[in-house]
Amino acid sequence: MLRVENIHTYYGPSYILHGISLNVQEKEVVSLLGRNGAGKTTTIRSIMGLTPPREGRIIFHEIEIAGRPPHEIFRRGIKLVPQGKQILPALTVEENLKLAMLKTEVEGSEKKELEKVYEKFPILKERRKQPGGHLSGGERQMLAIARVLIGKTGLILLDEPTEGLAPLIVKEIKKTIEEIKGEGVALLLAEQNVKMALEVADRHYIIDKGTVKFEGTTQQLRDNQGILETYLGVTA
Ligand SMILES: Nc1ncnc2c1ncn2[C@@H]1O[C@H](COP(=O)(O)OP(=O)(O)OP(=O)(O)O)[C@@H](O)[C@H]1O
Ligand SMILES: [Mg+2]
Repeated sequence: MLRVENIHTYYGPSYILHGISLNVQEKEVVSLLGRNGAGKTTTIRSIMGLTPPREGRIIFHEIEIAGRPPHEIFRRGIKLVPQGKQILPALTVEENLKLAMLKTEVEGSEKKELEKVYEKFPILKERRKQPGGHLSGGERQMLAIARVLIGKTGLILLDEPTEGLAPLIVKEIKKTIEEIKGEGVALLLAEQNVKMALEVADRHYIIDKGTVKFEGTTQQLRDNQGILETYLGVTA
């Protein structure tokens, strides 16, 4: 459903992505692994149209989207959960969710849509009247994910959802990702947590200094400990 072909992305004069290619198939969870500064966020920003590539193609459902504005890419069904658990801290949990509904077409009534979200995230129901700023890190991440599940979603770009979270909360996030996958939504997951990526993703890309160093299935990655050590400094 998504094909990224040989993209080259810059921040001003800084040349960051040196020809990244990757693809995500329907209903697939794909991980994008790499150390700090490898280019994970830049890849995700390129796809979302926030930092468009200067060269290369990005095809979503057979339509070229590279260079299109983020709001159009969003409307076509690609949703971003940015790095850093970004929500609106001064608004309540429910207001954060209602705001997400403003930006997208929801099928049923607002109330029905909220019920669906609360069913999936009971903790958000409990906290619905509290300001986003009062939530724990894990709850914030849940809210950030819940926001992108509202309305039509074909592909979710999830940028380091487990960064800085305790192992128990990481498990919850993992469960959420599995549920989203079960609903047939595809996911591109930027991660440094290799264990988590190996557990939830079907396929993996390892990037380093803006180029792809490895591409393969979970089994192929597990069988290639050298790659994990070289580019991520871990074994699994
Ligand atoms: N706004 C910017 N202007 C200039 N350089 C930037 C900017 N944002 C990121 N970079 C640089 O681009 C490179 C890739 O950064 P990027 O944020 O894509 O890495 P990352 O893989 O997401 O890392 P992390 O795991 O730390 O989030 C880094 O060298 C970073 O310093
Ligand atoms: Mg990043």
